[in-house]
Amino acid sequence: MAAKSQTAYLCGACGAEHRQWQGRCSACGEWNSLSRLRLAAALPAAGLGGEAAVVRKLSEVHTEAADRLPTGFAELDRVLGGGLVPGAVVLIGGDPGAGKSTLLLQVCAAVATQHPALYVTGEESLEQLALRSARLGLAAAPLEAVAETRAEVIAGLIEQRRPRLVVLDSVQVMQLESVEGTPGSVGQVRETAAYFTRLAKAGGVVVVLVGHVTKEGNLAGPKVLEHMIDCFLMLDSPAGSRYRTLRGFKNRFGAVNELGVFAMTGRGMREVVNPSAIFLQRGDLEAPGSVATVIWEGTRPILVEIQALVNPVQGGHSSRVAVGLDQQRLAMHLAVLQRHCGVQLGDQDVFANVVGGLRIAETGADLALLLAVLSSFRNRPLPKHLIVFGELGLTGEVRPVPNGQERLREARKHGFKAAIIPYANRPPQVIEGMAVHGVKGLGAALDAVASL
Ligand code: TYD
Ligand code: MG
Repeated sequence: MAAKSQTAYLCGACGAEHRQWQGRCSACGEWNSLSRLRLAAALPAAGLGGEAAVVRKLSEVHTEAADRLPTGFAELDRVLGGGLVPGAVVLIGGDPGAGKSTLLLQVCAAVATQHPALYVTGEESLEQLALRSARLGLAAAPLEAVAETRAEVIAGLIEQRRPRLVVLDSVQVMQLESVEGTPGSVGQVRETAAYFTRLAKAGGVVVVLVGHVTKEGNLAGPKVLEHMIDCFLMLDSPAGSRYRTLRGFKNRFGAVNELGVFAMTGRGMREVVNPSAIFLQRGDLEAPGSVATVIWEGTRPILVEIQALVNPVQGGHSSRVAVGLDQQRLAMHLAVLQRHCGVQLGDQDVFANVVGGLRIAETGADLALLLAVLSSFRNRPLPKHLIVFGELGLTGEVRPVPNGQERLREARKHGFKAAIIPYANRPPQVIEGMAVHGVKGLGAALDAVASL
């Protein structure tokens, strides 16, 4: 093996590797983000040894599609694209307290009923883990655990016990002796993850890495690991809510647009199999600035309430703040509103929010957002039983969205009696008990609102 450069400098922001220290990362432009990574003469081979590379016909390579491990949670399996793939490395990120350890302990226990599974905790003692496991009602599961942070020792345990699933909680506390740097440093995180990735591939074992990732992403996390891991999932805990959402950001074995929903209960994480209306908890009062919409998340519709507040500016510049929505789309909508409806909001602060802490990434909520803004500005509430969806174009046209019929059906199921939707999404047949207004443009949408 050719001698490798012994010292490298890693950027904590983008993970780029440099030969020399620089004040500013030339790859991503971040200042002061480089830290030194020193490797020992020979990196441990993680079970790969000196095996020769083998070239084989792909058709003859045994694929283990059928061998995916179910996690015990249909919601998690769906986000993963059908369970855990042998040899895969999965990173689960989330704020402290989101429920990562709880969820993974439950997953380990479920897998352990079929296959050997190992839970490695570097953050809690075994006693604490046992207490938690008892509280979760998992005491009877044949689950094995160890409190350990030394990567080489963990590799030895994996070699010896041959588990099918290993959870490392968390990657930020794991340490490779042969790498300089404290646990959690960019170098340590990157090298431990690389070490366990080699181990996963060589042994066909699923490795789940837990990562504490702040919203700003300033902990060594997905950016550094992005290239080596197979799946990156984020567990989000909307403030004040007992619901948790799990979303895939990278998945080599499935789609990334699936949303899994869980509830944190007194006995751990429970999956919410039909989450369509959990984010929609509205009182009976009709208030200006509130509009319900149906978004499409992966394979299912979810009803959410969008709220807007429009207030005269109190000196200085006007603010435009969007929470759970794209700030730039909000600015765009305000421009459309001005141009096509003559509504001037230059001297108004505009705030928009998705109730329940959900983040909307699709454009189907455009029309609802705009009507919420208008409703607040005019101080006129819209009826509670109204559902609105549709994408808005810069020319003021209302464009169709995918899965229009399913969205309408879901809204009807939850008692909505009127809908303002894109013309092209009109249902082929009359929906009993629901007045559907199909509109081609913003003007028609406002007429429909006035006619309610
Ligand atoms: P935890 O899984 O430790 O979060 P993470 O590993 O992501 O930091 O979950 C911590 C929170 O969950 C904590 O506030 C207590 C709560 N919790 C429950 O509500 N019910 C339970 O059964 C458990 C184990 C934890
Ligand atoms: Mg934890």
